Amino acid sequence: MALISWSDAFSTGITEQDEQHKNLIYLINRLNNSIEEGKDAEVLEAVLAQLVDYTIYHFGYEERLMKRHGYADTPAHKSEHEKFVETVYDFKRKLDSGSAVISIQIINFLRMWVTGHIMKTDKKMGLELSKVGVK
Ligand SMILES: [Fe+2]
Ligand SMILES: [Fe+2]
Repeated sequence: MALISWSDAFSTGITEQDEQHKNLIYLINRLNNSIEEGKDAEVLEAVLAQLVDYTIYHFGYEERLMKRHGYADTPAHKSEHEKFVETVYDFKRKLDSGSAVISIQIINFLRMWVTGHIMKTDKKMGLELSKVGVK
């Protein structure tokens, strides 16, 4: 069973943003499935690397969109993204040095952060940008 299932409750009202969130959820589910299936550390790290790359691409997309439309809450939103990236990089460093393994704790952190950020911060952004005609 998927760890996170997409539902319309996650929708921000912006089609491209929703599509990217579906991809992010897919990658978190994939990481979770790989752990459950007992995949090797190398496989887990490859999936995590893919998730990190996609997250950075996605944050770039949102930040450009906010900037283009002069969204007032851009600095606070950007700072949430930056803190998340720092935490994930920190974790990646620990993995690379062998002082940590990918566990259910990291999966839970990813799940809680991504769903919480979409529900609160991204939906707030979607609502505001919808008002200026972004679809
Ligand atoms: Fe997002
Ligand atoms: Fe965001």
